[in-house]
Amino acid sequence: MTDSRIQKITVELGERSYHINIGENIFDIIPRELKQLHISRQVVVISVPPVSDLYFETLNEQLSEDFDVIHYNVPDGEQSKSAGIVELLYDWLLENNIERSASIIALGGGVVGDLAGFVAATFLRGINLIHIPTSLLAQVDSSIGGKVGINHRTGKNLIGAFYQPRNIFTDISVLQTLPAEEYICGLGEVVKYGVIGDPQLFSMLEANIENILTKDANVLRAVVLKCASQKAEIVSRDERESGLRAILNYGHTFAHSLEAYYGYSGLKHGQAVLLGMICANYAAAKLKILPVCEQERIDSLIMKMPLSLPANESPPDPDNLLALMYKDKKVENGQIQFILAGKIGHVQSHQVMDENLIKESFEYLFSLDPVMPAK
Ligand code: GLY
Repeated sequence: MTDSRIQKITVELGERSYHINIGENIFDIIPRELKQLHISRQVVVISVPPVSDLYFETLNEQLSEDFDVIHYNVPDGEQSKSAGIVELLYDWLLENNIERSASIIALGGGVVGDLAGFVAATFLRGINLIHIPTSLLAQVDSSIGGKVGINHRTGKNLIGAFYQPRNIFTDISVLQTLPAEEYICGLGEVVKYGVIGDPQLFSMLEANIENILTKDANVLRAVVLKCASQKAEIVSRDERESGLRAILNYGHTFAHSLEAYYGYSGLKHGQAVLLGMICANYAAAKLKILPVCEQERIDSLIMKMPLSLPANESPPDPDNLLALMYKDKKVENGQIQFILAGKIGHVQSHQVMDENLIKESFEYLFSLDPVMPAK
């Protein structure tokens, strides 16, 4: 059955292909779409209190006729991506006699998606996974492509798997209740998509930034659609990141070391990505890979967003940041590969040998007014 309210994108992965359903107020389509997957009646919703307080009841009302729904809230925040919480979830699933034909619905942002996805990938060697992403970052990035995982005490996302969902329901209207800080984090990934592969999206962001910052529904729908389409295309071509998918790491190598520096609590991933892209652009311009006028264009869009590092801190020490960079899981044979922009809409992988340039890129970032808050 076609529904004109919904735009469907397909992640093409042979018999594991799945749809991303994008629209507004689309919870009513979930039961009929799930029935088409021929899954059993057992449905487990994993969420966090702020999201389930707003949306679980509506979801449950939609599902209760056709499915037997149970619900578990994990504490809100990155600390829930832990082996301890995974163990609690396994215990609870076993107590509830959850079988292999059951489905887990991840109702929430990136943390819930990664955690619930990891549990779905591993419980009874894998049960069905459905995403209902409720943050902008999860809608445009983390719910698509099957990266699931938890953190290890020594680093983020070190334990995980590639495990594709069976379906994704991306309801743009839920973004209206997303806290401002979370929303800005998602915009980090949105800008990334413009730079890595979609100059038209980038121009659209430049032209509509005010409407985007105020969550204008029409612009937002177009933006989410473009980003999700690009991610679906990249994942379809390179599911396991053996090549192309690495372009999604533009700005991320700098970002990961900033996140690690702040102990994964002071700075959120999306904020770090915005800052990381500024560093990557500086390095690319210095290496004469990126024309300065393009660097200025990208940075000027990024600088329209709130960008502060945690308050009352001196700038981080670039030597420490460099050391943290070498601990990133993307480092291979001790070499750091950067994804650098050559122009808006095109990026390339580049091994930056000059450690001073990496440190200088951080120093440039810290010299920018909005980045270092006044003491
Ligand atoms: N967020 C990067 C990826 O999915 O590959």
